[in-house]
Amino acid sequence: MDRRNFLKTGSIATVGTYLAGAGKVHLMAAPEAEPAKPIAANDTIQIALIGAGGQGQSDTRAAAQVPGVKVVAAADCYDGCLERARELWGKDILTTRDYNEILARKDVDAVVIGTPDHWHMQAAVDSMNAGKDVYCEKPMIHLYSDGPKIIDAWRKTNRIMEVGSQRVSSIIYRKAKELLAAGAIGTLNMVTVWYDRNSALGAWEYTVPYDANTQTCDWPRFLGTAPKVPWDGERFFQWRKYRDYGTGVAGDLFVHLFSGVHYITDTYGPTRAMSTGGLRFWKDGRDVPDVMMSLYDYEKGFNLSVRTNFVDGGSESEGFVFTGSEGQMVIGNDGVSVTRVPREKEPGYRVDLFSTAIQKRMIEIYHEKYPISHPSGEAMLGGEKYVAPEGYSDHYDHLKNWIDAIRSRKPVVEDPVFGFRAAGAAILSNVSYDSGKPARWDAEGMRLL
Ligand SMILES: NC(=O)c1ccc[n+]([C@@H]2O[C@H](COP(=O)([O-])OP(=O)(O)OC[C@H]3O[C@@H](n4cnc5c(N)ncnc54)[C@H](O)[C@@H]3O)[C@@H](O)[C@H]2O)c1
Repeated sequence: MDRRNFLKTGSIATVGTYLAGAGKVHLMAAPEAEPAKPIAANDTIQIALIGAGGQGQSDTRAAAQVPGVKVVAAADCYDGCLERARELWGKDILTTRDYNEILARKDVDAVVIGTPDHWHMQAAVDSMNAGKDVYCEKPMIHLYSDGPKIIDAWRKTNRIMEVGSQRVSSIIYRKAKELLAAGAIGTLNMVTVWYDRNSALGAWEYTVPYDANTQTCDWPRFLGTAPKVPWDGERFFQWRKYRDYGTGVAGDLFVHLFSGVHYITDTYGPTRAMSTGGLRFWKDGRDVPDVMMSLYDYEKGFNLSVRTNFVDGGSESEGFVFTGSEGQMVIGNDGVSVTRVPREKEPGYRVDLFSTAIQKRMIEIYHEKYPISHPSGEAMLGGEKYVAPEGYSDHYDHLKNWIDAIRSRKPVVEDPVFGFRAAGAAILSNVSYDSGKPARWDAEGMRLL
């Protein structure tokens, strides 16, 4: 498929195209606006938040922007977050440390789960068993055994459940999927991803509030099924540093890339992972590496390499690159770009190690076979970039996908099977890192081998 053809195949409308340097930039259209008709009062969806920390607040704010959504309750283990929830959604909402109080309420249709990873399974299963639809943050699982429990509850209760890797709803990812399917970069052979940081906050040293103590924080509830250890504000507010509550860089960061790769390439997941790394700098008591790199095999014929370096003294950067036989596709925050450089059609020659007479004759023989057709070389194809509209939010689109599904009872873009495949692939890195050996995964059957 030539360049002109792959441009035509995309179904995401563009609103304008201009030339920038050697390439073309296409401005993508914003997703369809909301229908003008107002949502009937009896069609309002009442949602509650379980785990009202950073991401839970952000998810709930995005959900509340979808027409016909009202926030009615919030649960959290730290009083400061409950107070914040009342500031954000009104003094009259129910706030509680015990999410079961929320699940008992008939007027709650659905819940957003923004707890640390070790609570995702229990909160999701309890919520679906109580008849609530669920939006659960990534990674869907903390342990592999969480996956089947969530999927079983989801199937048994027939609830709508969306997992929160929001980029799967992005128009940028949708465009990337279309471009790949249209042959824009030929046959995919490699995906390369990196997340490099160089700051305390980037390395998860989040601020512990001055008033954090066993009165303001429900420490036993926070711990849940995790080992009982004495109160520790860092464990509470910087839980990502500990495997008892989190899943390391694999579950925190790699999972986003697996969600994206599986969506864009239409694959279930990798077959094998090999990881290495270590704790090089942030020796603050954490039990997870701050440098990790992993290689993955995919049956579809490509390899994936991913790394995180929390000690990058060069510069902070992120990258998401798909390399194919005919080009390269790069996904960034603002859009997706494709670059194609035609491969040399001739084999070329190396003659300078031979005598001058032999060199001369060899070059003549070469050009008898490969006549000089482009004295100045073939023109390099310029790049193409598809840019999202300014202010575009995949986060809003993802929450909207969930809310739409709650109304229509149609499937979401990222259900628990998708969520388990993405998280299962991501934390395969940890399995390999811990054992020092390659780890194998049945992506379709969703089980470790
Ligand atoms: N999709 C994204 O881009 C994205 C970004 C950040 C975080 N996340 C995910 O969101 C989740 C939360 O991360 P965060 O950064 O918001 O953490 P956070 O520490 O800011 O918030 C977690 C909150 O959960 C509360 N909590 C713990 N146990 C609870 C329980 N049993 N019941 C009710 N509340 C409980 C804590 O008190 C805390 O306030 C994680 O799984 C993380 O991976 C996703």
